[in-house]
Order: sequence, then structure tokens, then C-alpha cells
Amino acid sequence: MLPMPVADLMAVGDELLRTGKRVRVLWQTDDTLAFVARGREYRSEFHLDPSDEVMFMIKGEMKLHYRFPDGREDIQVLKQGEVVYTAASVPHSPRFPPDAYLLVMERRRRPGEVDRFQWFCPKCDGFLHEEQFVVHDYTLDPVSKAYANFFDSESARTCKGCGHVMPKP
Ligand SMILES: [Fe+2]
Repeated sequence: MLPMPVADLMAVGDELLRTGKRVRVLWQTDDTLAFVARGREYRSEFHLDPSDEVMFMIKGEMKLHYRFPDGREDIQVLKQGEVVYTAASVPHSPRFPPDAYLLVMERRRRPGEVDRFQWFCPKCDGFLHEEQFVVHDYTLDPVSKAYANFFDSESARTCKGCGHVMPKP
């Protein structure tokens, strides 16, 4: 991939903030995918990524919610300038404000791999809904698509356990 792309992370984040966009893909090849994301104030789902992820906090602070195999949830705080490694398939929910910026590095998905996005009931923590995507091109912003589907469906947001309806933002 020549010439070799270089990105000024703070400048990319500032441009996202100015234009109201959420994500800018810096590059994607078979072995590497890098993008800068602004926070989503409504982010509540857990992402199960078939690829490992490395996340670096460019600006601001993140509360990285994640789940153990037994379903227990914990939070890792990622401060500005810190980097975290999240292994493939660990359910994780990167929660940070819209004026904070995050660099995410993954790899392009292999044939047959599926990204999963799972929501849990805010009231009883029961499983609510899952969206699945084949992410062949990250510039298509699969996270925004997953949320659009989820918010559009009241039945997806209704807990089968306790009946609570998770509101749209
Ligand atoms: Fe519930």
C-alpha cells in the first residue's frame, strides 16, 4: 500500500467532531484495519468481534464495559493516552463521550466471519437482542447500522423476561 498512509489522530478526531461524523477509516487491508471513532452517547450494546482489537484513547476517557464467559460484567477505565488489548470474541462496549476520540485497530474479517452486537435489558440484565453483520468494508459503518435496526424495532427492545422496553435515545 504505497504511498504509506499517515494520520494525525487529533486532527482526524477534531474533523469528526466538526462534521458530526462518528468514524473515519484510516486504512484497511487484509491484515490490518484502523479507524478513529468519536464516542456515541447512546452506546449500550456489546460487540463480539471475530478479530482482536487494540484501542488507544486519543482524547478523553472511556469506560470499557466487558463481559466474562459467565455473563458477569465489569468496567475497565481507559484514560487519555492509554491503550488496551481486547481479545477476539470478548463482549465489549466502548462507552465514551462524543467529544472523546478513540483509535481502533483490528484486521479485516475473513470469509465466513460474522460480527455480533448484543443488547441486554437495562432493568434485569436479561438478553434482549442480537444483530449480526458480515463486515466486508468498515467504511459502511456497521455499528450505526446495528443501532438503526435495534432502535427501529420495539420488539427487539422489549425484554422477554421482565417486559421492560428499552427506550430509543
Ligand atoms: Fe428485563
